This record gives sequence, C-alpha cells and structure tokens, in this order.
Amino acid sequence: MGADLDALAHSILRDNDQGGYTIPTKGLYPYQWNWDSVFVAMGFATFDLDRAWQEIENLFQGQWDDGMVPHILFRKNDPSYFPGPDIWGTKSEPFPTSGHSQPPVAATAMRDLFEQSRAPENAERAKALFPKVMAWHRWWATYRDPKGHGSVAIVHPWESGRDNLPDWDEPLSNVDTTNVPDYVRKDTSHVAPEMRPLKQDYDRYMAILTVGKACGWDPKETVEKTPFLVADPAITMILLRANRDLLVLAEKLGYLDAMPEIQGWIERLEKGLESLWNPKIQAYVTRNLRTDVLGTGVSSASFLASYAGITDPKVIEPLKAHFDRIAGKVNYMLPSYDPDHPGFEHMRYWRGPVWAVVNYMASRGMREAGDHLRSEKIRKDTVRLIQQSGFAEYFSPVDGAGAGGNSFSWTAAVWLAWATPSLAAKAA
Ligand code: GLC
Repeated sequence: MGADLDALAHSILRDNDQGGYTIPTKGLYPYQWNWDSVFVAMGFATFDLDRAWQEIENLFQGQWDDGMVPHILFRKNDPSYFPGPDIWGTKSEPFPTSGHSQPPVAATAMRDLFEQSRAPENAERAKALFPKVMAWHRWWATYRDPKGHGSVAIVHPWESGRDNLPDWDEPLSNVDTTNVPDYVRKDTSHVAPEMRPLKQDYDRYMAILTVGKACGWDPKETVEKTPFLVADPAITMILLRANRDLLVLAEKLGYLDAMPEIQGWIERLEKGLESLWNPKIQAYVTRNLRTDVLGTGVSSASFLASYAGITDPKVIEPLKAHFDRIAGKVNYMLPSYDPDHPGFEHMRYWRGPVWAVVNYMASRGMREAGDHLRSEKIRKDTVRLIQQSGFAEYFSPVDGAGAGGNSFSWTAAVWLAWATPSLAAKAA
C-alpha cells in the first residue's frame, strides 16, 4: 500500500508539472501558487534534486522589484480560474501575478535542499537564490510590520494561505461590499459549494482586492488603505522559522554581512509573537490591527510554535493540553480550527479540515522539540487520511473524507518528503 501510494504521489507531481513549475491541481488551481510550489519542491527533492531547485527558482521569477513574491503567478491565462490576471490588474513583469504574498516557507525548504548534497553546484544554487529570499524577508519586515512590532500583518485572507479561517470573520465583517462589481465565481463549478467559502465571504474578498488594485498594489499604500489588516500568528511563526533557517544559510554560504539584519528580524518576531498570545484561551491568535480585537479560537497555527523555535513551557504546556483535548474530539489531527469552537465546520475550507502541509510543519517542529509522541500522532493520522481518501486537497478531521480538489500536488509532496512509511523503512 505504502509503495503504491509513493508511486501515485510521484505521478501526481509529474502530471501537475507544467515544465519547470507545478500547479496545485488541474481545474481548481491552474497556475503556480507560492507556498504550494515550495512544498512541491520538497517532494521533488526526494527523487530529483535538480527539479526541486528549479521549482523554487521559477517561483522567484515572479518576484517584484520591491522584494515581494506573489501568491499566484499567472504564466498563461486560464479562463477556468477566477479571479484571474485582469481582475488583479498588477503590472508585473515578465508575467502578471496576484498583488500580495503567501506564507514564506521558501528559506526553510532551501536550507533542506542545500543540506541534502555537498556537491558544489548545490551550494551555487543556494548562493544564487539567497539574495532573492533575503529581499523577500526584508519586504515582510518593511511593509507587513511597518511599526516594527514583530507581528506580521496580512492585507487579505488569501495572503495567510488559510483563506477561510473563522478568525477572519470579525475583521471581514467590517469590510464594505457595496462597490464590488458583479462577478462570477469559478471555484464552486469545480468543487461542491458546501466545501467552499460562502458568497458573503467571497464578496468581501473581492472588496479587499478592489482596494488593493486601486492602490496599484503599492505595499505601503495598500497597508494604509486596506479594510482588512490582521496580524497572523501562522505567518509570523513561519517567517520566524524561515529567518532562523536563512541565518544558518547566511553563515554557511558566506553571506556574513546579512547575519545581523536577519538576527534583528528574529528578535523582533519573537517579541511580536508574544502580542498574539491570548491569555484567556492560552493560545496564539490573530489580532485585528484596525480594531485591536483578538481572535477567539485555537487554530492549527498555535501548533506551529515548536516549528517556530518557541520553547517557553508557559506556552508549550498549555498548547500540549489543547492538542490532547482536541485529539480526544476528532479522529484525525490536526483540524484547522478548534472542534469545540462554534466556528468549527469539519468540511468547509479552513474552518475545520486537516491540511497535510500544516501537519507536516507542526509535526516537524514537535519532533525537533523532542515531542515524538505528538509528532508521530500527526504523521500517522496523515498516513491514515491519505490511505483512506487519497491525495485530496484537505480532509475532514471527523470522518477522514477527502475534500476540495484531488490529485493535489502538495499533499503528494509532503507524503513523499515526510509522511510515507517507506521513509522510516529506508532509515531503519
Ligand atoms: C487555497 C489555499 C491556499 C493554497 C491554494 C492552492 O487557496 O487556501 O493556501 O495555496 O489553495 O493550493
């Protein structure tokens, strides 16, 4: 069974490969997505290191002059997707892109690829990418944390990569939708509507997009004018982790001058993260930077604390207690949102379902922190989900049903890079 799934995972990556870059899945997501590509690279790295580098290098072809790496790269127009390049209206070269970013996982993957081979060409590729990743991280520090507080803000739920999280409901409720032009969604023609965001949410997504477009997606102006500005613990933790990996790369690749700047970002993010701790619920939450309202639920972001290198028992112990409580409620970890919260929906996009890539990051962090029990619980649950429902986009934590798109690239990629039982067999 494991070997068959390995073979299937390979073929999914090959099938979704467009020649140097990979789409998440046919139909629903026909372009190159930012963090999807990075996880895909980790999958490719298990059998083709050259192709793995190429995936990340091609992602950075979409990088803007200000350092931003967009969340979607529209290399060719595909009318089956909405909102496409004309709606975003960016002026980017060499091809159109979306106007904001997505979780910065690239530096972490880059370190993994770099450490995989001592061949000089391998170090050369890491060296060539380094300044681009540095510019991207500087963009986050400059534009998404303009006051230097250390928590990283997003200007659109889509920038978080956790598009439909219940924590966005409060900030989204303040978004005025009266000027949203008529539009026709395409996602619900590919996937059952009950697995996708509601119309009201989509109207608000479009309203925010319209404001960003009117700002020409200038990062400073967009942050000033967007009706949605929320500090996100997941992005903050992912960037913190990525900066730690970038720091190691700086040293190993001889970019010593870059080290103090990266060190500064790390200290700032560690501090900023404290402002996202909700003492009432004892978990990391979002903070609406327009109203100062904190999120009220335990999302899977909290379980990235160890991945981010946080070791303080005052944080880790309550999070372990949440983990154990939630594990007693659902059949498959990690639900994207607390099953005890009224916002939980087990099949709707980011309001409950399990994502294999989040599981991978959380499990990796817990393993690195020595919590093998919880780390393995997440991995084994991921194996059971994929055995039961295949390489789905996401899964119900209640009954394990697959949801969203299928033959999904990043699910296949993290299977190969982390979940598959054949890795343990190889290591033994
Ligand atoms: C959805 C997810 C996002 C992902 C994209 C492509 O928009 O919320 O995280 O990058 O699909 O898989």
